[in-house]
Amino acid sequence: MTVREIKSGIYSVGAIDWDRTIFDELIPLPEGTSYNSYLIKGSEKTALIDTVDPTKIDTLLENLEELGVTCLDYVISNHAEQDHSGAIPAVLDRYPEAEVITNEKCKGFLTDLLGVPDERFTVIGEGDEISLGDRTLRFLLTPWVHWPETMVTYLVEDKILFTCDFFGSHVATSDLYARGNYEVYTGAKRYYAEIMMPFRTTVRKNVEKIESLDMEIIAPSHGPMYKDPKFIIDAYKDWTSEDVKNEAIIAFVSMHGSTRKAAEHLAETLMERGITVKVFNLSTADIGELAMALVDAATLVLAAPTVLGGIHPSAIYAAYLVNALRPKLRHIGIISSYGWGGMAVQHVQNCVTVIKPEVFEPVLIRGHPGEEDLRKIDDMAEEIMKKHENLNLIKR
Ligand code: FEO
Repeated sequence: MTVREIKSGIYSVGAIDWDRTIFDELIPLPEGTSYNSYLIKGSEKTALIDTVDPTKIDTLLENLEELGVTCLDYVISNHAEQDHSGAIPAVLDRYPEAEVITNEKCKGFLTDLLGVPDERFTVIGEGDEISLGDRTLRFLLTPWVHWPETMVTYLVEDKILFTCDFFGSHVATSDLYARGNYEVYTGAKRYYAEIMMPFRTTVRKNVEKIESLDMEIIAPSHGPMYKDPKFIIDAYKDWTSEDVKNEAIIAFVSMHGSTRKAAEHLAETLMERGITVKVFNLSTADIGELAMALVDAATLVLAAPTVLGGIHPSAIYAAYLVNALRPKLRHIGIISSYGWGGMAVQHVQNCVTVIKPEVFEPVLIRGHPGEEDLRKIDDMAEEIMKKHENLNLIKR
């Protein structure tokens, strides 16, 4: 049971998933996650905002039972993805009077994904409101704060914005509210990087759209709530801005030490030039950490050997991921060591098609890096420094 009262008549009734380790079979969850669902009792009507992952249906239903909810008027669906909507069919079975309130696009997803029957829906649009009696829910469409149908729900009288994935973090915590500390910031940034970054410009518009609301609490459906909405709004403004930082990522994979030597030499050379460097060994790196670094970095250098007739598959995976996450990167460098064939540059460029960073002169090394190779890496570092100096938007 994880029922917690937020204010009189407003409860957190979702579930904490303490030991979930991966999401979408892709994203590592080092801190677990939660599926926050909120119950709002008005003087006349009762609404549930979002539900939980299908694995936690029993928790949600038990929480509603613990609160003595015998009649549920509305289930608000801010987002159709199953970690928030997967329990809707079970809730509708338990409460046959309940209507699903959502937008037209979300209705389509809920129909296709979960088979929610047409007669259970009431479709709302931008700015529409429903009354719970002494409380009012207002709906704002905020597409692409993960999927195209996402929206947020504003509880007018209590000044609470329910944002589902927007401003969320994959953090399992007993804290109802974020403490504003480093861990919370990191969790939210990691979540932004993995989920929101590909839609950065749209996310920024949605931040601008909601920030004029009079808010006391932002209540996402993953991780803690925010009593200080400005904290997370300012973080999102930073992450979604056009600014990059004086940071370079070196993502490398090495089979016999040649590429490692090149990557480490580049790291030292960049550090000597005052550039913040983040180095990831692609064989062991947590892709969430790499995604977080991509939020701010001006430059990425991929360093990998050739194997099986092409560049190492780990570098292809990284390049594919970078392209999919669409970071603000301005520049990309490629270093490759090879034995008898050097198609590395073309293979990486084939993966990076959506973003358009400037590509530095690649450094191709036959065998182990020698003095001439290291000099070329120094030249790349010098070029990176000059480019960073010319980026007038850079912040440290
Ligand atoms: Fe937490 Fe897009 O679902």
